[in-house]
Amino acid sequence: MAKTFKNFIGGQWVAPETGQYFQNRNPADTTDLIGRFPDSGVADVAAAVKSAERGFQLWSRTPAPIRGDVLRRVGDLLTERKEAIANAMTREMGKVLAETRGDVQEGIDTAYYAATEGRRLFGHTVPSELRQKWAMTMRRPIGVAGLITPFNFPMAIPTWKSFPALLCGNSIILKPSEDVPHTATLLVECLLEAGLPPEVIQLVHGGEVPGRALVEHPRVPLISFTGSTETGAKIGETCGRMHKRLSLEMGGKNAQIVMEDADLDLALEGVLWGAFGTTGQRCTATSRLIVHRKVHDKLLNRLADAAQDLTLGDGRKPKVDVGPLIHEAARAKVEQYVEIGHSEGAELVCGGARPRGKSAGFFYQPTVFAGVKPGSRLATEEIFGPVLSVIQVSSYDQAVKVNNEVKYGLSSSIYTRDVQRTFRAMEDLDNGITYVNAPTIGAEAHLPFGGVKQTGNGHREGGWEVFEFYSETKVGYVDFSGKLQRAQMDIYDI
Ligand code: UN1
Repeated sequence: MAKTFKNFIGGQWVAPETGQYFQNRNPADTTDLIGRFPDSGVADVAAAVKSAERGFQLWSRTPAPIRGDVLRRVGDLLTERKEAIANAMTREMGKVLAETRGDVQEGIDTAYYAATEGRRLFGHTVPSELRQKWAMTMRRPIGVAGLITPFNFPMAIPTWKSFPALLCGNSIILKPSEDVPHTATLLVECLLEAGLPPEVIQLVHGGEVPGRALVEHPRVPLISFTGSTETGAKIGETCGRMHKRLSLEMGGKNAQIVMEDADLDLALEGVLWGAFGTTGQRCTATSRLIVHRKVHDKLLNRLADAAQDLTLGDGRKPKVDVGPLIHEAARAKVEQYVEIGHSEGAELVCGGARPRGKSAGFFYQPTVFAGVKPGSRLATEEIFGPVLSVIQVSSYDQAVKVNNEVKYGLSSSIYTRDVQRTFRAMEDLDNGITYVNAPTIGAEAHLPFGGVKQTGNGHREGGWEVFEFYSETKVGYVDFSGKLQRAQMDIYDI
């Protein structure tokens, strides 16, 4: 019998008020049932908000260095449990063990980074224009933070949001993707064991119903969401109407550019990892390969051979390179885009089908289309699967133009040995992140992460910038002159 899991609300593990549960199955083998998880409703979210408000009263007054100490202990626990959590994650969402270990490591790095920020969280001391007066800024927590996270980084992304939110003194309600509720449960266990006061965190499982209830709740002043651009737009409308602080991380259509002077061995390794790592299910995945015509045929031939050699399977088995897609709907979307590729006249170079033989998993062959026309649907729309579109160009300027003519702007990459072109590319490519001689994936926890255009709404996760999102700037003025001084009016001579 598979285990029945609970929400964490009001300082306890509790059954959902709906009485409803959903099944969580291994996408590499759907006969493997991981557990039943709460299909929560509006009342569960309401209870979570009430509890989180109590948690906020306590936590917002806890000194930031002490809050940081709790996160340091969370980092220690994640380190101890890394292997077990990585195994559970691969079973739950399919990507290979090396990647789920990396995902836990990103959580560990985020914990230690946030822990030390507890001893900074700087404000500024600024000269006043008046004598005997101090002017300064400080950071204040905001309140109950609603965090809605996706399936593809089941540990890293919840930590990207929850650790800085907690460090800044907010209480949190985590609504993880219903595809990865087990990993979220393991994370919350670590937070509680590390000494986080129970009502500071709430875990509410389920799908759109609790997600929407969180976004629409009047006493949740902050929402952070990672997911599709379509859902982000709806959340943005609600948050705009309700004047909520909102951070959005959404779609991508990231390109790797390979110039005629590139190291082709390196470029090949890079594109295989960027396009087919995580089965293409990253918002930073390489979904376009923009190649200079002088090296196009050579690279394409090698790419087709290498992509066919990738081994599909259960990510917990050694020698497996690529796991399954997350569910049938994700695979159906990939199949739909393969049809679109054919109908747009692109040339299928490899893949383009489910693997041969019977399987109880959502597998799909790594797929490469060549001759993809810039501006076509295959070249511009996010697929979130193992499908790479190759676009041939004749110049650097054309490569930049193709890179920039999509509505997304998360990550880009250029392979070249020309130092001038390297720096020009960092200016010219319209993305939040540009990699040189490295693939489009692989952001590091202590640098800001995010994209321009319809990938985001101007905020960043990770790095030092995220602490500004999760806190409010307050200004303090202290006049110790003992008399009324009027700013902008009582102008002093030197
Ligand atoms: C995402 O796909 O939503 O750089 C985030 C990367 C990862 C983060 C991806 N560290 O690909």
